[in-house]
Amino acid sequence: MPKHAVIIGRAGQLGTELVREFTARGWTVTGFDRRALNITDPVAVEECLAAAEPDVVLNAAAYNQVDVAESEPLAAYMVNGLAVRNLAVACRQADAQLVHFSTDYVFDGTAGRAYLETDAPHPLSAYGVSKLAGEFYARAYEDRNLVVRTCGVFGPAGRHTARGNFVEMMLRLAGQQQTSNQPIRVVEDHVASPTYAPELARLTADLVERGVTGVVHGGGEVALSWYDYARLIFRCAGLDPVLKATNEREYRTAAKRPKYSALANGVAAAAGIAPMPDLETCVRRYLELR
Ligand SMILES: NC(=O)c1ccc[n+]([C@@H]2O[C@H](COP(=O)([O-])OP(=O)(O)OC[C@H]3O[C@@H](n4cnc5c(N)ncnc54)[C@H](OP(=O)(O)O)[C@@H]3O)[C@@H](O)[C@H]2O)c1
Repeated sequence: MPKHAVIIGRAGQLGTELVREFTARGWTVTGFDRRALNITDPVAVEECLAAAEPDVVLNAAAYNQVDVAESEPLAAYMVNGLAVRNLAVACRQADAQLVHFSTDYVFDGTAGRAYLETDAPHPLSAYGVSKLAGEFYARAYEDRNLVVRTCGVFGPAGRHTARGNFVEMMLRLAGQQQTSNQPIRVVEDHVASPTYAPELARLTADLVERGVTGVVHGGGEVALSWYDYARLIFRCAGLDPVLKATNEREYRTAAKRPKYSALANGVAAAAGIAPMPDLETCVRRYLELR
């Protein structure tokens, strides 16, 4: 009998790809969007997972508004922290494995190199703290838990979600520049490893099928500044807008962000899982699907 995966947050960038990937691998897949299951409701979560009888529950739902979280930390904590406890408790009761997703923002970015799973977290923001709380809840209640930390996710579903992604934002700003004549300003003093959602879904399914548990990094293979990432996007899209490098001091945001938060996928590599393609290949694939 095929194994059953429940995918929470199925309408998001990653949720969409998890549904596609696990279905393609022959799993029985049941997806829930926020309307079908709000994970902040512990009774609804427990009833839903008890009825579904899944082997694995993958939680791709999240509160991702990093700057807004500074003015509403409780809202972030409810979804990214306490709701993960709801899922972990219900998974334990339903004898299902919990796969949860976290972020590079659990780190403070001071290491100056890509972070490994063994590095100690030290978040700088309400969002980062809420995501770290979610990691702890996933690990506290469910023994076979897998926590996959990722970074700068972009996937085809981001064209339609309220939050979108960095590629969509750059393409939108380039379009607006034709009338506004304003340069596009992107920070050059923050480095990340942008991650293509279909590749993250593939890596996750590989981890699950190999029985890897614990904290695992699933970031894109290339570490670069957001400014260089914007340049790469425009090159791949055949666009040439006026782009200006800025920095944290000039471009203030409500939330403090780690300066260097690329992730190194040490555990996945040690498990023999194939690396993701380079970032340019991923961006070109993304643009072909638009
Ligand atoms: N996007 C990034 O750059 C990034 C970076 C690092 C880590 N991550 C992590 O990667 C994972 C996937 O991110 P993503 O980019 O796929 O996010 P996304 O596209 O924003 O999708 C998140 C989904 O969660 C749903 N959701 C929010 N609150 C919910 C609730 N209370 N109950 C049920 N569903 C709820 C949202 O529904 P609505 O649209 O209805 O709100 C949305 O469909 C998350 O854990 C995120 O924290 C993302």
